[in-house]
Amino acid sequence: MADTAAQPFKIEPTPGGVGAFVQGIDLANDLSSNTVGALRQALGDHCVLFFRDQKLTPDQHIEAAEKFGEINVNRFFSRVPTHDKIALVVKEPDQTANIGGAWHTDHSYDQIPAMGSMLLARQTPTRGGDTLFANMYAAYDSLSDGLKQTLNGLRAVHSSRHRFGPNAQGREGYKGRLGNAELAQQDAVHPVVISHPISGRKALYVNDAFTLQFEGWTKEESEPLLKMLYAHASRPEHTYRFQWAPGSIAFWDNRASWHYAVNDYHGARREMHRITLEGEALDA
Ligand code: SIN
Repeated sequence: MADTAAQPFKIEPTPGGVGAFVQGIDLANDLSSNTVGALRQALGDHCVLFFRDQKLTPDQHIEAAEKFGEINVNRFFSRVPTHDKIALVVKEPDQTANIGGAWHTDHSYDQIPAMGSMLLARQTPTRGGDTLFANMYAAYDSLSDGLKQTLNGLRAVHSSRHRFGPNAQGREGYKGRLGNAELAQQDAVHPVVISHPISGRKALYVNDAFTLQFEGWTKEESEPLLKMLYAHASRPEHTYRFQWAPGSIAFWDNRASWHYAVNDYHGARREMHRITLEGEALDA
């Protein structure tokens, strides 16, 4: 765990199975290199950091994110018109499909998956529109030794084709919000259990949205075990449900967590700004 005793901010774990609230910090002004180091460590420990009441302009959002790494501009999402390093995650009152409404971790379809994402709420519905997070250290730690041993020898294939490609199911519902279908061509193979680059802890690294199958197994062979892992990893005791307000930020580590945007606010508008940060190749 990070030694944050000397830091001006406070880290308070959520009452759930993942994440921590960071209190007493203004991300526009307080990001010294010591603070960034301590927050990075806290991110590796808690999987997701939550911040309230951050009054960031889009430029300040970019500046804060860049303290933690290089920005990886998502190739499928539309962008904030004035700031093309910021992906726009929006649902209008007349739309029914939401972005991110399945358990996933961002960019696992890339050879070098993104380290994390910093999502800032700009407009939130008066009710609903929460995001669920799940802890992939806990998901791994709570498996039997026998299954851990099996999983430690496996790798899995991840893809963006079925989600963002020309034949992706339900594409119509995302018109104007997702694009570049022709870029959804690559698959990536990663260990099923990774050693987390910050904490060194083992984390389960498969997810329902982007993982296709275990390497060397057929889809039919893979499906029952993947389904079991998805049900296990998303058990309530591994999760926390975050309620947004304008100015809230969730900064999640894509290697140690999953997230799921709850789609329960039809007729209302929700606008979020997401900046995704480059990561590194993942090892077992
Ligand atoms: C996402 O999956 O990046 C979006 C999550 C959200 O809108 O809550």
